[in-house]
Amino acid sequence: MEAPTPASIERSLGELRAAFPKRFEAAATEQALRDENAKILGKKGELKAILGQMGSISADARKSIGALANDLKRDVEVAFDKRLQALARSSRDAELNAPPFDLTLPGRQLAPLGHAHPISIVRDEIVDVLESIGFAVHDGPELETEETNFTKLGFPPDHPATDMQDSFWTTDGRLLRTHTSNIQIRAMSSIPPPMAFIAPGVVYRRDDDATHSPMFHQVECFLVDRRVTVAHLKGVLGEFAERFFGSGTPVRLRPSYFPFVEPGAEVDVGCPFCKRPDGTRAGCSVCKRTGWMEILGCGMIHPVVFENCGIDPEQWTGFAFGMGVERVAMVRYGIPDIRLLFENDPRFLAQF
Ligand code: PHE
Repeated sequence: MEAPTPASIERSLGELRAAFPKRFEAAATEQALRDENAKILGKKGELKAILGQMGSISADARKSIGALANDLKRDVEVAFDKRLQALARSSRDAELNAPPFDLTLPGRQLAPLGHAHPISIVRDEIVDVLESIGFAVHDGPELETEETNFTKLGFPPDHPATDMQDSFWTTDGRLLRTHTSNIQIRAMSSIPPPMAFIAPGVVYRRDDDATHSPMFHQVECFLVDRRVTVAHLKGVLGEFAERFFGSGTPVRLRPSYFPFVEPGAEVDVGCPFCKRPDGTRAGCSVCKRTGWMEILGCGMIHPVVFENCGIDPEQWTGFAFGMGVERVAMVRYGIPDIRLLFENDPRFLAQF
């Protein structure tokens, strides 16, 4: 091979200058363009190879060839950037003009699905059963007046429930409702009888231990009509127990006192955990060996409550009951501590 001369080196540079624009043009992807660029300007690239031939030429010639090489290098760099931008633009155009995503296709990865909280599950089931019996949902506020939460329900002003220690009061004299019985007052004051309502909702009391939470849920249920008796109340409670806890679940009423009912009772259902095949209960730790679990308070609506709402107690009678949703959930699932329902531990919640 002949020794390189300034003229032959210049010729090689000239050939490269003539060829590179077409080579860049021919690169159809960013990767191909980068590869081509590396072949020309890279450490082992063509420009380096040509310049490597300068060892045997004069210092003057080296200088002028060096200047040529620098020009060429700059032009290659400019052309590379231009082509890179053009490729980016055309791939974006192609993306925008492509057929749109098919949003109806299923996702590739199924995230594990969540589910309703046990309190929601139980509340919805209670509502479903009572709705199917014929009750309609009635709503009302959680921030309530003393009059609607207590006074019109027949609580005397010094009743312990009205005490600062037992309820959450606001500075303007209202309180977070302590039960859903406020809905009885609201419905009966605004709707002429007959009526049959349920009111699921959140209530608040200053209580906090294994069986009491400062915030919990109730479902109120009440019926006002002519000649409603305790038999109707017992009938609805029995039907509820059958459908919610299973057929043959016994119900018992224990006399009890609430200011807004007369007579009043607390209601127990047979413990679902120690039921024998013959229907009797053995008694277990869940029901504290009694065979019974308390789920609600109930009674016949007090005549004074009717009067407070503008309803004639000579014409109308009614029953009411208020059920604790957490209590029912604890009975249903055998949950020993109410706080488990509020700690949001996924290991607990995943069981429902
Ligand atoms: N409001 C009562 C409570 O929270 C329950 C109840 C409702 C009792 C309706 C009788 C009638 O304890």
